Amino acid sequence: MRDRDVPRSAPMGLFRRLVTINGLVFTVGTLVLAVSPATVSSPVVLTEVPVLILGLAFILTANALLVRSSLAPLDALTSVMQRVDLLRTGNRLSGNGNRDLAHVIDTFNAMLDRLEAERSESSAHALAAQEGERERIARELHDEIGQSLTVVLLGLKRTVDRAPEDLREELHVTQEAVRACLDEVRVVARRLRPGVLADLGLSSALTALGSEFSQASGVPVTRRVDTGLVGLSQDAELVLYRIAQEGLTNVARHAKASRVVLSLRRERGRLTLTITDDGRGAVIKEGAGIRGMRERALLINAQLTVDSTPGEGTRIALVLPPGSAEGA
Ligand SMILES: Nc1ncnc2c1ncn2[C@@H]1O[C@H](COP(=O)(O)OP(=O)(O)O)[C@@H](O)[C@H]1O
Ligand SMILES: [Mg+2]
Repeated sequence: MRDRDVPRSAPMGLFRRLVTINGLVFTVGTLVLAVSPATVSSPVVLTEVPVLILGLAFILTANALLVRSSLAPLDALTSVMQRVDLLRTGNRLSGNGNRDLAHVIDTFNAMLDRLEAERSESSAHALAAQEGERERIARELHDEIGQSLTVVLLGLKRTVDRAPEDLREELHVTQEAVRACLDEVRVVARRLRPGVLADLGLSSALTALGSEFSQASGVPVTRRVDTGLVGLSQDAELVLYRIAQEGLTNVARHAKASRVVLSLRRERGRLTLTITDDGRGAVIKEGAGIRGMRERALLINAQLTVDSTPGEGTRIALVLPPGSAEGA
């Protein structure tokens, strides 16, 4: 908890105002009672009852109206509370014109600052752990299962070479099945750990991702990837890669698109990744995939927007903060 973000002064604006309003109403009531010819007998006389009821109604109404106008800014606060989503940062309430509630609003905004920072920290930890685990599984798939399958393939090849003619065909089929399985293991391992990212850099990794997607889904991908981007941090590269990966997976799963454009370019000085499809679009109800994208975007202070129009397609854009990368 970071105390420094919490406003320290605690002006009692709202309390003071409510006390003043109540005091004022009671004072006016008392004065009216004092200077008016009205009297209250004990026990109350029947003719005095309407006067008493009228006076009370007047006091209650005046009090209610004044208190309500003082509390009106709380409605704005409530609506921000309902809207708050820690994955969409920067939703703040302005204290302008709400002097009495300034303290509440400042405290609320400071609480949001703190929660956003904590949320971003914990999702950074979670994502790092997830990447670590993926890397471990990828390594095991590649090194253990991949190696074992390779040994099986070699053994099969030797057997095929020495096998009688009538068994060869069958053994060939088995050989192909094992080869396909080995390829699959490699694809899964690569998906889990984008080794190309470290080996070839982001541009090539995205190009490879696009080709893999096209092959698997049959949807052609147009790539517009700037080459020679330098200065991107490893974190940013991984975020861009994972968001492109999830974006393309969504196109394959949901879009029924006939083409996709995957672009990574500098636009107005900011590196921008977009995945645009011409599919069926949707009224997006964000699931784990898109929320994961948002978490990753937060890690590098990038801005993620998801625009989808039913019947017209979907566009995912990730805009990195200025200075994240330089062109060649
Ligand atoms: N490219 C797209 N085209 C059409 N609908 C999409 C697209 N991407 C996402 N959606 C919609 O948004 C929803 C949420 O996506 P996501 O958060 O990735 O969750 P999931 O893919 O697990 O359903 C999807 O269920 C789908 O309805
Ligand atoms: Mg998804």
